[in-house]
Amino acid sequence: MREPVYFLDGRTVRASAARLPIADLAILRGFALFESLRTYGRKPFLLDRHLDRLLGEARRVGLACPYSRAEIARIIQRLLRCNCFPEALIRLLLTGGASPKLIPSGRPTFAVMMDPLPAFPKHQYAKGIALMSIPFERAYPEMKTTNYFAAVWGTMRAVKRGFHEIVYARDNGDLLEGSTFNLFVVLPGQRLITPQKDVLAGVTAGCVLDLARALRIRIARRPIRPADLRRAREAFITSSNREIIPVRRVDRQRIGDGRPGPMTRRLHAAYRDFVGKS
Ligand SMILES: Cc1ncc(COP(=O)(O)O)c(C=O)c1O
Repeated sequence: MREPVYFLDGRTVRASAARLPIADLAILRGFALFESLRTYGRKPFLLDRHLDRLLGEARRVGLACPYSRAEIARIIQRLLRCNCFPEALIRLLLTGGASPKLIPSGRPTFAVMMDPLPAFPKHQYAKGIALMSIPFERAYPEMKTTNYFAAVWGTMRAVKRGFHEIVYARDNGDLLEGSTFNLFVVLPGQRLITPQKDVLAGVTAGCVLDLARALRIRIARRPIRPADLRRAREAFITSSNREIIPVRRVDRQRIGDGRPGPMTRRLHAAYRDFVGKS
């Protein structure tokens, strides 16, 4: 397969040649923002929502993105023509730029990485995944910064112990979100619970909530308590590149009968339908 082509600071470059200066604040200070989205039918899915999030966060932290929304869309189109993947995983990166000081002193760096969309294991969709909780709360949970230290380290430990992914828990045991996904549980009475505060407002979670409202499913936006897990009939995770994956276990707690349930299947079917119509 030909090497993917990326965009880095005004140039299209081979993936292996896309390098940041070592003094970039992204490297030494973790000061960078990013987005991750996928294509369907070779078209970026919900690009506007991902750009709203990235550019909104950039404005908030005072990072001047060197490219406008329209320019970023054109860069992505150009890369889609250069990279002939059946479907692509697209990651947008905006860093603090190279700086000898703690605060940015130069031009922020903007990059677009485009790789073949990884095929996620079919059995995870069919059988569900096991989550390991770790006590952790992200520092700026409403932002998608590149600080995934806890995610990387936690997932390394989880995989060693036979889990698929990690989920962050407050000290009192309430669950918030996962390393790279939002978490939902379904309580008896077809009630859907997912946190609103102290989590990333996932683009996929937003779609799933809209679809659930349209299906007249009752929704509560609050942290997921340990007692919820014991009562839950179903649980699932959402993220742009994986859509919806059922959860069969969190730590030692089996969810429902340990198999993907009807609400998860119904919402996933509605999501696929929405993708098809978009
Ligand atoms: C911490 C975190 N929460 C939630 C999500 C899911 O967000 P989205 O649905 O926009 O992909 C991600 C995605 O990477 C994430 O990193």
